[in-house]
Amino acid sequence: MADAVVRTDVGVLVDGDRITAVDDEKRLRSEAAGAEVVDCARGVLTPGFVDSHTHAIFGRARYEEQELRAAGVPYMEIARRGGGIHASVRDLRERSEDELFALAEPRLRALAASGVTTVEVKSGYGLSLADELKSLRVVRRLAESLPMRVRATWLGAHEIPLEFRARANGRREYVELLVHEMLPAVAQERLASYADVFCEPGVFTVEESREILSAARAAGLAIKLHADELVAGGGAELAGELGAVSADHLAAISDAGIAALAAHGTVATLLPGTMLFLGKRDQAPARRLVEAGVPVALATDFNPGTSPTPTFPLVLTLGVSQLRLSVAEAMLAGTVNGAAALGLADRVGQLSAGFSADLALWDVDDVRELPYWYGAGRCRASWTRGKPCHAHDLALPFPR
Ligand code: NIG
Ligand code: FE
Repeated sequence: MADAVVRTDVGVLVDGDRITAVDDEKRLRSEAAGAEVVDCARGVLTPGFVDSHTHAIFGRARYEEQELRAAGVPYMEIARRGGGIHASVRDLRERSEDELFALAEPRLRALAASGVTTVEVKSGYGLSLADELKSLRVVRRLAESLPMRVRATWLGAHEIPLEFRARANGRREYVELLVHEMLPAVAQERLASYADVFCEPGVFTVEESREILSAARAAGLAIKLHADELVAGGGAELAGELGAVSADHLAAISDAGIAALAAHGTVATLLPGTMLFLGKRDQAPARRLVEAGVPVALATDFNPGTSPTPTFPLVLTLGVSQLRLSVAEAMLAGTVNGAAALGLADRVGQLSAGFSADLALWDVDDVRELPYWYGAGRCRASWTRGKPCHAHDLALPFPR
């Protein structure tokens, strides 16, 4: 993961949606005479970031919970009182597809303005057949209309909805609904590439998660998991067992969990913005994961409850300052390994010939400034599949 290279005086040649060469600038200029030239001088060009974990389809913000946590009420207790994910579910169910699209679109544009060219978006605030399908149709519309690459994840198993928690056999009934009604509908409309479950004590058990995700895998979806976020509950072990593309959060992962991810090549997607926002001191053991040979990715976890940041480079800052990654490791985690967490590593996330022309140009002199100016947006321009994705108004100077 430290094997990232910084090169100077190079050009990146793009033909259509692909990179065709990365080579000495002068040589490329003569070989590709007649090509349109974008001068990136006095800047750093990186692969566009891959934000492989977001929950961008939601209605209103949940700022009131921030003060509750500050006053000592834990995240899971807020959920037990009917807040947390349940609050977002009540709100989303009241909103139309058009309204949700209008809310999500500027959120993804803000992520693009911070250098993200590929974004994964989960459902998970609907928790009924109609509302999960509505959420995933919004993701489809975003994929069709935005200049970024947008990939959809079905997270019908984000919570047990309150109306099911209220019934004696409700848990079981909701799992049945997920497996026998929601999943077939999602698969039939091809609304998602991945299935995810919030596998955590108090939410879905390992057994329930196994049942839901095995069915999803049989339906042709790749598997992701919210695992071991607050308690080591066997989520990472299950991710390995199921051959998941990623296991996410992992602040409480066990040694057996680390071994399971390493054995199966499952990406560990770490979300340090969530730990920061929840005011937690514990962090995922990034160094131990890297040393065990687990590919580590970084993502925002953009969502209204635990990580409302639209700024990808802030996650790099936390990757270095809290998770103790080197800048090279953090950059790989936000590009190559983010792509791997979406099963796209063969074509996304690298400035190499044959890869998708997903590029971000930064107003910095040194790549180490990306995590350094924390909270700042310094993305001057970006391209996805060779086409403009984001352009900063150059009339506005970046403060230094
Ligand atoms: O990844 N941990 C579960 N899900 C989200 C938070 C959802 C919410 O609080 O709205 C997460 O942190
Ligand atoms: Fe999440």
